[in-house]
Amino acid sequence: MVSIAVNKSRDNVAMLGIGAYRPQRIVSNAEVCETLDSTPEWIFERTGINNRRWVSGDETIQSIAAAAGERALKNTPIDRAEIGAVILCTSSWLKLTPHGAPSVASDLGLNGVAAFDLTSGCGGFGYGLGVAADLIRAGSFDYVLVIGAETMTVGLDKSDRSTAMIFGDGAGAVVVGLSEENGISPAVWGSDGENAEAIAQHPDFLEYQQRALRIESQWQAGETEIESVGKMTLSMEGPKVFRWAAVTLPRALSAALDASGVAKEDIEVFIPHQANARINELMKKNLGLAESVPMANDIENTGNTSAASIPLAMEEMLVTGKAKGGQIALLLGFGAGLSYAGQVVTLPPAPKEPSF
Ligand code: UT7
Repeated sequence: MVSIAVNKSRDNVAMLGIGAYRPQRIVSNAEVCETLDSTPEWIFERTGINNRRWVSGDETIQSIAAAAGERALKNTPIDRAEIGAVILCTSSWLKLTPHGAPSVASDLGLNGVAAFDLTSGCGGFGYGLGVAADLIRAGSFDYVLVIGAETMTVGLDKSDRSTAMIFGDGAGAVVVGLSEENGISPAVWGSDGENAEAIAQHPDFLEYQQRALRIESQWQAGETEIESVGKMTLSMEGPKVFRWAAVTLPRALSAALDASGVAKEDIEVFIPHQANARINELMKKNLGLAESVPMANDIENTGNTSAASIPLAMEEMLVTGKAKGGQIALLLGFGAGLSYAGQVVTLPPAPKEPSF
């Protein structure tokens, strides 16, 4: 009987280092209101955002993902040759082929490693962290680089009241690897496809293709009124997502605590996805975390960077001293899908090379 080899599994995995990249251009609420029918005060009151970063010049999804990955590698005490896989968590890589992770890995001097994209909206980093931890536990790799990177503003309708003031660009990355003590709990993850259209890209690729075919036949028929090819944008039914978040996320947070075996009282830091500061305040209150537990508020000056928001917020807390390496933190990402993923972790050390 032929026996097929199986990986040797192991238990303890942790985030060993972190890095981030914040695009150069800072965009204030006042600037957003040059194209949006809103006010800086409304935006701050309803979302907690004052500024966000938008890519400019030669910054691209690939360059910012690689810049965050480079910092994470420099901030981790292992040789990059030990990285076995790169997971790029993003909804902004606008080509299905080739996907982004191989090019980013190559930019990082990691050509040849396993490299794949993971698309799970704003919950993307939580999914990526869970997949990386489980791949390492299963023995597939010893070290995995997980990058959350987004250029949300590339498809942003700057006059749309439900998205224009919220989204920003940025990238954050962590090196996940074998460690003496376990620092990543089992992930708690889920989805609600019945409400999937609440956050959606328009037009989708099929609609785009149909439109392109119509345009071609309009040209061929010599018509004078040619349809516009249109821009790809993101739409969000904000209040619907808000309501879903209010019902689903408290359960997800409790489940994450149960799965981790860590008591609520032992959570030292709370780092939810930076979607809206009001959602985060509500979650913290409903979960019953003590007032004194620091909560990430990177949204104030970075906006909502989707799959990049948790590593960016974690980096900000470590750099500013609001949180310390080794502390126990509760993470929860959520958004398009609608989907979510969270876990209890120990924080990586503060980065030697910060993003600001
Ligand atoms: O990251 C992925 C996950 N995303 C989220 O979790 C986002 C969740 N949702 C939200 O963050 C919020 O729903 C938004 C920030 C998008 C919108 O805030 P809201 O408090 O839910 O506003 P609303 O759509 O319920 O509108 C309330 C009022 C309306 O006016 P009336 O009818 O009360 O007179 C809107 O017309 O605010 C008005 N409004 C605005 N005013 C100024 C809506 N959007 C704007 C705006 N500027 N941008």
